[in-house]
Amino acid sequence: MSAYTARAHTNIALLKYWGKADQNLIIPTTSSVSLTLNEFYTDTTVEFLDNLAADEIYLDGAFLTQTSTKKVQHLLDLVRQMAGLTNSARVTSYNHVPTSAGLASSASAFAALAGAASKAAGLSLSPIELSRLARQGSGSASRSIYGGFAIWERGYDDLSSYARSINEEVSWPIQLLTVIINDQPKKINSSNGMQNVVATDPFYQSWVAHANIQVNPMLEAIERHDLAAIGAIAEANALQMHAQNMMASPAFTYLTDESWQIISLVQNLRKEGLIAYVTMDAGPNVKIISKPSDTTIITEAIQASLPTATITAATPGPGLYITKGLKI
Ligand code: DP6
Repeated sequence: MSAYTARAHTNIALLKYWGKADQNLIIPTTSSVSLTLNEFYTDTTVEFLDNLAADEIYLDGAFLTQTSTKKVQHLLDLVRQMAGLTNSARVTSYNHVPTSAGLASSASAFAALAGAASKAAGLSLSPIELSRLARQGSGSASRSIYGGFAIWERGYDDLSSYARSINEEVSWPIQLLTVIINDQPKKINSSNGMQNVVATDPFYQSWVAHANIQVNPMLEAIERHDLAAIGAIAEANALQMHAQNMMASPAFTYLTDESWQIISLVQNLRKEGLIAYVTMDAGPNVKIISKPSDTTIITEAIQASLPTATITAATPGPGLYITKGLKI
């Protein structure tokens, strides 16, 4: 059987996925909306071999033990089931997310794995089928099948919970400036963080209800290319997600003093007339939604206030790309 290689880019949620209705199938409690970025991606090669005793998984050249790769093996099992295969696989993956980027790589990693593994097993899956498969590795990966803007429709079971494209080719100016405050691994990973919240936050159902109300205004803002409206809804949704963490028991937060320093800096830039809004995920780093033409002014303001921060500008990126062989 042939080897296949896939490239998938990471995505940032403008409306967050923060909680599972079904932990085994990874069905979320809310729909989420994202932008796939051009800067950060994963390349993964998969080959099903006759002479392997067990799956062999390598990340950035290092062999990973069976215990650290349960989610990868789970996804390979799903592919084997679909294709009627029993062979073990060799998986070689390279993350082109700078180690200092502090960005989650699970979205690009599981989207690339779904693409390469399904092709290597002889399957030809549609984007929706790929999204459902990637979802079962990591929820946010369901959205990295597509370039540009995507929505992961919450659904209610395996068949109905998948992402679809809103607008793959984004031809108007929008960027995400990633401000890296800290590149240490997070103390509470996203799966555990969101499950703590679902299980203990007394206000969680309000978050779900309000997140549902934010979906249509976000889709309409994207349709209008209305950067200020996209930013305002995304910022509110992100801050509301982080507020849920404070309402969990025990309360926790991913945001640090430096995160708040950047958040208030962005609020001040807005007072000066700039279109700039923040969003944060399961870590202290802040992403700023803004116009590419404002990069210099925003970067200079951050450097003056927090000289240790690393800033990378990312624009909309492409969807999953799969090719036969060992390299893209
Ligand atoms: C805060 O997709 O990493 O980035 O499904 O448990 O693997 P699992 O979680 P994951 O969670 C991402 C959470 C988030 C928001 C988002 O990307 O929607």
